[in-house]
Amino acid sequence: MSFDVHAARADFPILSREVNGKPLIYLDSGASAQKPRQVIEAMSGIMERSYANVHRGLHTLANETTDAYEKARESVRRFINAPSVGEVVFTKGATEAINLVASSYGLGLKAGDEIVLSQMEHHANIVPWHFLRERHGIVLRFIPVLDDGRLDMDAFRALLGPNTRMVAVTHMSNVLGTINPVAEIIAAAHAVGAPVLLDGAQAIVHGAVDVQALDVDFYAFSGHKLNGPTGIGVLYGKAERLAALPPYQGGGEMIGSVSMEAITYADPPHRFEAGTPAIVEAIGLGAAIDWLEQFDRAAIGAHEHALYERVKTGLQGANWLTEIGGAPGKGAIFSFTVAGAHAHDIAQLLDRYGVAVRAGTHCAEPLMRRYGLTSSTRASFALYNTLEEADSFVDALVKAQGFFS
Ligand code: ALA
Repeated sequence: MSFDVHAARADFPILSREVNGKPLIYLDSGASAQKPRQVIEAMSGIMERSYANVHRGLHTLANETTDAYEKARESVRRFINAPSVGEVVFTKGATEAINLVASSYGLGLKAGDEIVLSQMEHHANIVPWHFLRERHGIVLRFIPVLDDGRLDMDAFRALLGPNTRMVAVTHMSNVLGTINPVAEIIAAAHAVGAPVLLDGAQAIVHGAVDVQALDVDFYAFSGHKLNGPTGIGVLYGKAERLAALPPYQGGGEMIGSVSMEAITYADPPHRFEAGTPAIVEAIGLGAAIDWLEQFDRAAIGAHEHALYERVKTGLQGANWLTEIGGAPGKGAIFSFTVAGAHAHDIAQLLDRYGVAVRAGTHCAEPLMRRYGLTSSTRASFALYNTLEEADSFVDALVKAQGFFS
């Protein structure tokens, strides 16, 4: 199946605006992706026509909104091929999903237990585990990253042992674009009895994820990178894993019963959704998934890869440019430095030409240190970017570099 970028693009109202007198070229989707009108309309539609709180009411609006909210959960379940909706927990985002697992699972750990992370993790998959190190004496082990941006898998296997209690790694690096060999990681971790959490915030955007085929224990992702709204994300957890986790937050709708002496808890996923959830945002995420499912994911992946290759070809021979990470099969993320120029200056100059990119440490300081860098510039490609935009980005980057030569 082919992918018609122009037809998909037409669904995004924001992409027809100008920035600094130039057509917007949005290459910052790795930070947050733009929203199709179907998502915007689903969110305003529920508020215009049928809004109330969920799981509490006995009136028509409450029932309609609960149905829409739970329909969104079913869309997520289908999207990741989870066996049941009970394994799909709505969270604020990937960050909260990881915090939930670290906090709840961490309660069962003791000093000396080990968590295996990698050197390419986003801070969202480092800091919650550091809390366990600080508070409970948990030991953190980091899989090193090789020069080309791959994980050192020999080192990974050597890190696993009888004290390993969890392996928590990114499915796809937000800086390098590396897509990690997660099937191999999961098999090796399971062989020592350790569950695996994958941070799928980037990966789920760029290719189909099947949690059953992966046999992953926990999978975390955000709505806003998936063309959905902010404030909503997902924690997938295997039923037996979620059932074994104590609640993360307390409040309404996560209990079985409450008395002055004792409490019992609801079953997952509701046990982990204390208080009024992000109702409108969950419905928006469901709409984003429904929208995305009209396309062939592999065709989108091929289109994004073509964008990355076009930029690489356009910049061939540019001896002032260094790409960070070039792992085989990497996703459509292009991180680089320009000799003699600060990444922030490059990003600001690109903005003059209408090109939006991210610059800085990308919330991945251990990785930046690994490459001896304090910052880099990152262009992240999405399904709505065109080959013409890739060419314009190359032209703008050459012009920006001209200020420093
Ligand atoms: N995690 C997001 C990024 O990589 C914000 O830009």
